[in-house]
Amino acid sequence: MAPLPENLTVPQRTQRVEAADLEIKTLGACRHDSPLMARLGRAALHPVGQVERVLLDDRVPGQAREARDNARGPTFELAGPRDRIFFDTATLRCGIVTCGGLCPGINNVVRGLVLELTHAYGVKQIFGFRYGFEGMVARHGHEPVRLGPAQVGEIHQQGGTVLGTSRGSQEPGEMVDTIASLGIGVLFVIGGDGTLRGASKIVAELERRKLAVAVIGIPKTIDNDIHFIDRSFGFESAFAAAVEAIRSAHVEAVGARNGVGLVKLMGRHSGFVTCHAALASTDANFVLIPEVPLRLDGERGFLHSLERRLAERAHAVIVVAEGAGQELCGETPSGYGAPQTDASGNVRLKDIGIVLRDRITRHFRERGVELTLKYIDPGYQIRSVPASPGDSVFCWNMARNAVHAAMAGNTDMLIGQWHGRFVHVPIPLATRFRKQVDVLDDLWLSVVEATGQPVHFS
Ligand code: F6P
Repeated sequence: MAPLPENLTVPQRTQRVEAADLEIKTLGACRHDSPLMARLGRAALHPVGQVERVLLDDRVPGQAREARDNARGPTFELAGPRDRIFFDTATLRCGIVTCGGLCPGINNVVRGLVLELTHAYGVKQIFGFRYGFEGMVARHGHEPVRLGPAQVGEIHQQGGTVLGTSRGSQEPGEMVDTIASLGIGVLFVIGGDGTLRGASKIVAELERRKLAVAVIGIPKTIDNDIHFIDRSFGFESAFAAAVEAIRSAHVEAVGARNGVGLVKLMGRHSGFVTCHAALASTDANFVLIPEVPLRLDGERGFLHSLERRLAERAHAVIVVAEGAGQELCGETPSGYGAPQTDASGNVRLKDIGIVLRDRITRHFRERGVELTLKYIDPGYQIRSVPASPGDSVFCWNMARNAVHAAMAGNTDMLIGQWHGRFVHVPIPLATRFRKQVDVLDDLWLSVVEATGQPVHFS
């Protein structure tokens, strides 16, 4: 088996992060006692200005290196309730917007924000913007809705977003006009990397106009491709739903001699959903992700490995991420004359699932080998499910920590989870580059060990 080529490395391995990159912007001094003081007591709250920090690199050699290079080394600010806050919560108005593709748990986060704002801080005026950033631009005509505990009572039972969503950016000036006219002091933005970049543009416009508005992101994507968060909410629910598709593929595969179950999952540039679904199911024999080049033909190619697998076990399950093997798709249409990019500027992918289905079928037919291939594309099904119990807990903790961060007057940041702790992550850092599966790291090795497949097909 060929070893991994050294150039197969991902940006996070080579990017250097300085302590200054992890500093969080604030709107100003915290002049108000937190309403939580009376309920929880000072000992349970973090003193503003003296909050503990979480090491970026918790490995010992890394720490030693950082300690040598930099007195403190890069650290994240720990999330959590502060003893003093920036806003007068009696008059504060907050806005919530949900953007981009759907993801399990969005409604849980919306509900968590509303309940925490209301119950912990006594905020009474919360606005939900409809259909993503579009709802923050007056000329689109989507009136914001008022949100309180009654309006969010059961929304966590449903997938999707009760506020509606849309892709694509809007003019920051027009969005800030809306923020100013409604008198919003805190904006919570639930979205992926494109949305978070949009949130940073709102921050820049607010700063230009000298408006003291906190903008807090809550990272949302089933692709789990946002940096400096152990995992994004909804990711676990999505890969759990994908396990069902892999199980069906396995049942179909073992039900026929030389049965092949082929499942295509979402994951444009990052194969996390595919890897985790495969590991959770343990039925996958081949996992193909965008980060690992895919060659079909030749001694070291995928088709040869599949031949061997079928000769040995008479069935195989293949799980492919939609972004894998794009170079093999040639001129395969990406969909009915649609533009080459979507409203978020993402390149529309060619259909690797169909290409694989056809190439596998042809390859074995040409060799006179009978094969029964069943192709399953669960597509949007995996991201429209309600949040799993694990994700529900996670969503609640993301939401309450987002509220604590906002109340302390932090801005241009998102709530992340790093080494298992909730932390504040500057949006410009989190969106600097995309998180991808590092083929030299344990996740990919785990997949390779679980499936028995070669480490790459190139
Ligand atoms: O949000 C990420 C994601 O689910 C990707 O996995 C997928 O490629 C994309 O969104 C699909 O987006 P859309 O909703 O625009 O079809």
